[in-house]
Amino acid sequence: GIEFSIAVLLAYLLGSVSTAIIVCRLMGLGDPREGGSGNPGATNVKRLYGNKAAAITLFGDLLKGVIPVLAAYQYGFTSTEVFLIGFAAFIGHLYPLFFGFRGGKGVATMLGMMLALSLPIGLAIVATWLFVAKVLKISSLSALVAATLTPVYVYFISADLGWFYGSLALTLILFWRHRSNIQRLLNGEESLIKQSN
Ligand code: G3P
Repeated sequence: GIEFSIAVLLAYLLGSVSTAIIVCRLMGLGDPREGGSGNPGATNVKRLYGNKAAAITLFGDLLKGVIPVLAAYQYGFTSTEVFLIGFAAFIGHLYPLFFGFRGGKGVATMLGMMLALSLPIGLAIVATWLFVAKVLKISSLSALVAATLTPVYVYFISADLGWFYGSLALTLILFWRHRSNIQRLLNGEESLIKQSN
């Protein structure tokens, strides 16, 4: 209905608010799309400008997933509709209306969305990311492993088939957005998460 369409549009617009670009601009730093991996996300902001700007970026991008999903639940949309509303925020982050459709890779926004959809599923995904990051110290690879396991977690924890197929789509899109990272990983050239400040 019209209410669902409006919710999808609002979620897309919220997702379009690129935390990385705005935070870097407000802190007098450069455009994260012009350095490092070129990605407007927490990993690249950390790489370019350190932990503080990166932490704010991560928090903002997580919220873009959390807020639409919680609001959609509150409003009383069905579980499939809630998923699609979260998905719209994810797409907004990837293809932001306000920033020339040049957005990020969606890891933090997907995490926020999944945490708000189902805390057990979200925590399983976050734990996977943290575990791989701790062991291998590569952000993109942690995201790819966590994304690969996401449909598995969704299937076994929620048994919601709509969410399962939706999460498969999320994972495929996330892989597509990481294709330059995948190339670097295959070439053994992907950068490590460095300890800093
Ligand atoms: O959040 C995106 C991350 O998975 C990779 O970022 O900057 O290393 O391409 P980056």
